[in-house]
Amino acid sequence: MKNGNFDPEMLPLPSLDFQGLFPVGTVPFFTQNRRGVEVLLPREAEISEGYGSKRLSDFCTGRYCLRSCTNILGFSGEILIGDRGMPILPPGIVGTVSHSKVLSGAVAALANDFLSVGLDIESNGRINRDMWHLLFNDDESGFLNSLAADEQVLTATKYFSAKEAFYKMQYPLTGMYLDFHDVEMLPEQGDTLCVVLLNEAGPFEKGRRFEVNAKVAGNEIITFCALPK
Ligand SMILES: CC(C)(COP(=O)(O)OP(=O)(O)OC[C@H]1O[C@@H](n2cnc3c(N)ncnc32)[C@H](O)[C@@H]1OP(=O)(O)O)[C@@H](O)C(=O)NCCC(=O)NCCS
Repeated sequence: MKNGNFDPEMLPLPSLDFQGLFPVGTVPFFTQNRRGVEVLLPREAEISEGYGSKRLSDFCTGRYCLRSCTNILGFSGEILIGDRGMPILPPGIVGTVSHSKVLSGAVAALANDFLSVGLDIESNGRINRDMWHLLFNDDESGFLNSLAADEQVLTATKYFSAKEAFYKMQYPLTGMYLDFHDVEMLPEQGDTLCVVLLNEAGPFEKGRRFEVNAKVAGNEIITFCALPK
């Protein structure tokens, strides 16, 4: 299986290096180019009819990325929206989508290899201190407070993104909405982060740990959480 597919038209992002972000067996596809309704299949176009321009652009670009991944895995059909927003893929494939203002991406994999995958992209600095109480508990905030100012901003954004990537990975398996306080980030920085479940979630016991890979590409932070089979 190929491990890395990028839009041939993609502009170079400063320090773009996805090494170690996506495990072997996953198929990522990223682009900085926005796509329009021409990339949608008929039923995708139908469900997105009432969308505003930003949502529509995100949806089209996300579907373009996701289909570019699933094509490689042998599926080129429509990808509709399921429960609570998750993308609906055929039983043999798992996949995930994310968009920031400058970068969109998707990752897919065979369900024989991965139970689920979750991707998130955030622009660094999106999370300010006023939001910490909504996203982080006292231990997490205490760790962030111990960091120098620029590290604090970067790590807070990484932690937020890692929780969202974890959420997207877990939702298709548990069907559960999890709040930011249902999970905790261990006090780690760098490219491998660890999310701990503070409450039981479907088949996952309280205290279970999940790895989330993180990379900084220019001003964008990309996080990825995969559960191998
Ligand atoms: C759903 C959510 C994670 C999406 O993140 P976001 O930063 O707003 O948007 P992104 O561009 O990164 O991702 C959007 C994509 O997420 C996917 N998505 C939405 N809901 C999903 C779900 N329940 N499960 C899996 N993927 C989902 C969709 O593919 C969507 O793109 P699309 O609508 O074009 O198909 C976020 O809006 C949310 O509701 N978060 C609250 C729950 C949470 O994160 N808890 C953290 C602790 S576990």
